[in-house]
Amino acid sequence: MSVERTFSIIKPDAVAAGHAGEILAMIEAAGFKILAVRMTRLSEPQARGFYAVHAAKPFYAGLVKFMTEGPIIVMALERENAIAGLREVMGATNPEIAAEGTIRKRFATSIERNCIHGSDAAETAAVELGFFFGAAELL
Ligand code: CMP
Repeated sequence: MSVERTFSIIKPDAVAAGHAGEILAMIEAAGFKILAVRMTRLSEPQARGFYAVHAAKPFYAGLVKFMTEGPIIVMALERENAIAGLREVMGATNPEIAAEGTIRKRFATSIERNCIHGSDAAETAAVELGFFFGAAELL
């Protein structure tokens, strides 16, 4: 295993509910270094672009609406095996089947409003990090 970077979003549902601090604490407790973090708000074109891979899915329009409804927190994270490791800490996409102790089990309310995003592969992580952060922010 090697030190990797991954990208994560604390989604509008979790920011609005006041869970951002607890989610960040769980990420840090799992050994992640926060390389960069910023609160922002997605425009509709940005949300469409970020989730373009899901454009043909029936939930795409709802997902874009959800992701633009309020502020989000975007993060660049670093750790050994960061991509798979973060997905373990997040839990399954659907909170109904997420493992006990995971972020989604604690804070997600549905498969769509699932409180956190994490990159699913090294190529995706590189693209997603570049979507939100400049190279100078990731030193
Ligand atoms: P995320 O990890 O950000 O990647 C795609 C997002 O689409 C996912 O989290 C959920 O927010 C949403 N999503 C995935 N599957 C479904 C589904 N079946 N119905 C509604 N939303 C979904």
